[in-house]
Amino acid sequence: MALKTLKTETRGRVAIVTLNRPDALNALNSELLGELRETLAHFSADDKIGAIVLTGSEKAFAAGADIKEMQPKDYVSAYLEDLFEGWSAVSNTRKPLIAAVAGYALGGGCELAMMCDFIIAADTAKFGQPEITLGIIPGMGGTQRLTRAVGKAKAMDLCLTGRMMDAEEAERSGLVARVVPADELLATAMKAAEKIAGFSLPVAMMVKESVNRADEVTLAEGLRFERRLFHSLFATEDQKEGMGAFIDKRKAQFKHR
Ligand code: CAA
Repeated sequence: MALKTLKTETRGRVAIVTLNRPDALNALNSELLGELRETLAHFSADDKIGAIVLTGSEKAFAAGADIKEMQPKDYVSAYLEDLFEGWSAVSNTRKPLIAAVAGYALGGGCELAMMCDFIIAADTAKFGQPEITLGIIPGMGGTQRLTRAVGKAKAMDLCLTGRMMDAEEAERSGLVARVVPADELLATAMKAAEKIAGFSLPVAMMVKESVNRADEVTLAEGLRFERRLFHSLFATEDQKEGMGAFIDKRKAQFKHR
């Protein structure tokens, strides 16, 4: 794949995808979306990959959707192309996907990070939904995923004022799983991804599917869904191996990795 807006690399069973539009602080344009969709589909189909890390630069994870590309659009063109629907390919990625965020994660950048399964932030990270300053509202999930992540009060505060929050506030409010020094960001994300990729892949994928279900359905339905997946795992060799290894006091060698 000859990519213009991304860099990719694999280390063991982990794929690293780096947003790479340095002149535009990784602003998310349609070319980048196309390449990201293609790349995620490629790694999703690759049996040798068990987890994916999505990251940006030291200065910016992504400073939002590309304002210069969006500016000339009118209502009909936005509606006809169903602007931003294409990003659902990121949230629909079935393999575990970690966002490693340093610098700005604004607008679509914050929304892209929230499409990942969890966010590890550098202490330099700044999150925000500044769309209101541009005369628009968030369009890639900001009013929905941010509200679920941090609650109504802070989501309203961020979306209505357009202010940025730092990494510490983002962790305190539940948007971010961990904050680490900037120079340890990628190593920390890699360590988490390697750990996940060492487990049974179908089990990791079911964890993701079941946790995501919590945002979609009632508690009773979510618990039923979780239980059904749980039951199904007793049909797998990896359950036999995982529990057998515990009892034998040895490290599990999962087959479906
Ligand atoms: N779209 C297009 N270009 C962008 C951009 C964006 N979102 N963000 C930054 N850039 C470009 C700048 O235009 C600039 O390009 P030029 O050198 O050609 O002028 C370059 O990146 C560097 O940016 P700055 O000079 O502005 O850098 P800075 O350090 O002074 O400021 C910043 C950094 C505070 C992040 C500032 O760039 C900024 O405010 N960016 C826009 C943030 C924003 O509003 N994001 C929301 C976009 S809308 C959206 O995302 C909708 C949605 O819900 C999906």
